[in-house]
Amino acid sequence: MFVYSLLALALAAAPAAAIDYNAAHNVTPITGTWSSGSKAVLTGDFANPANLSFNYPKNTGVSYAFSDAGFYEVARYRFNSNGSNPTCITGVLNWHHGTFQLVDNGSIVLTPFGDGYQQIQDPCAAESNFIEDYNKTELLSQWQIFTDPVDGPKLHLFESDGTPVAPLYQVYSTANMLPTQKLRNVTAVADVSSLLALNTNTGARSWTPASAVAMVSSVFALGAASLVL
Ligand SMILES: *[C@@H]1O[C@H](CO)[C@@H](O)[C@H](O)[C@H]1NC(C)=O
Ligand SMILES: *[C@@H]1O[C@H](CO)[C@@H](O)[C@H](O)[C@H]1NC(C)=O
Ligand SMILES: *[C@@H]1O[C@H](CO)[C@@H](O)[C@H](O)[C@H]1NC(C)=O
Ligand SMILES: *[C@@H]1O[C@H](CO)[C@@H](O)[C@H](O)[C@H]1NC(C)=O
Ligand SMILES: *[C@@H]1O[C@H](CO)[C@@H](O)[C@H](O)[C@H]1NC(C)=O
Repeated sequence: MFVYSLLALALAAAPAAAIDYNAAHNVTPITGTWSSGSKAVLTGDFANPANLSFNYPKNTGVSYAFSDAGFYEVARYRFNSNGSNPTCITGVLNWHHGTFQLVDNGSIVLTPFGDGYQQIQDPCAAESNFIEDYNKTELLSQWQIFTDPVDGPKLHLFESDGTPVAPLYQVYSTANMLPTQKLRNVTAVADVSSLLALNTNTGARSWTPASAVAMVSSVFALGAASLVL
């Protein structure tokens, strides 16, 4: 059992003496469901692995959930803007889950189950809309939890290269996640294009460059540039 309480962290840290689990880590346990910005993106309600689809959130953002039993889920919806060509905005929806490990050097390792996937929409590319498997082991180099006077516990994660993830607010103190096991057979869904062709007319799967530009601009206006990575 993983119990990421203050005491457990202190005890775990003691023998290694490699990391100072200071007050910043101990405001609240990392277990729970966390979401950035407007909290529109939420794990557990983002992906439908069985048919490789997404429930499109109203806004971009990222969400992480960590359970007491050592499982994680990540949901990301973001736009990558392209400075040299402002109308070529790439949209990425990314979902994966698996097990996580709090390493005593202060990092978190996310090891996926192998059923993750992402959808990439790039109006300027030859293949403008596709879904691909996503099974990368991710390293979060650091994490800290602060208390925001208005929003309560606030989780700061840093990617492996030190890039901060947008601040995450605790939406639930428990992990909102899909069943913590492999939820699709990766090899069984080899022909993604036919699946996508079936679904392309739903309207939700594409956007006009103009609306994406507006969305990216408003994200920047909020000063949350790290949402657009
Ligand atoms: C995929 O499955 C979900 C959950 O069963 C369902 O709500 C959704 O409509 C399905 N989407 C497509 C495109 O078939
Ligand atoms: C930006 O757009 C240009 C022109 O379409 C393309 O060649 C380039 O690869 C894009 N850059 C990124 C980072 O996507
Ligand atoms: C911390 O440990 C992880 C897992 O072993 C490793 O990948 C990472 O590079 C380490 N970080 C530092 C700063 O040594
Ligand atoms: C996904 O990645 C994990 C961790 O590296 C690995 O154990 C697993 O075999 C991979 N699964 C697939 C389907 O590639
Ligand atoms: C994967 O395929 C096997 C064999 O066809 C089947 O028994 C299993 O239920 C499938 N798993 C999922 C998650 O669909």
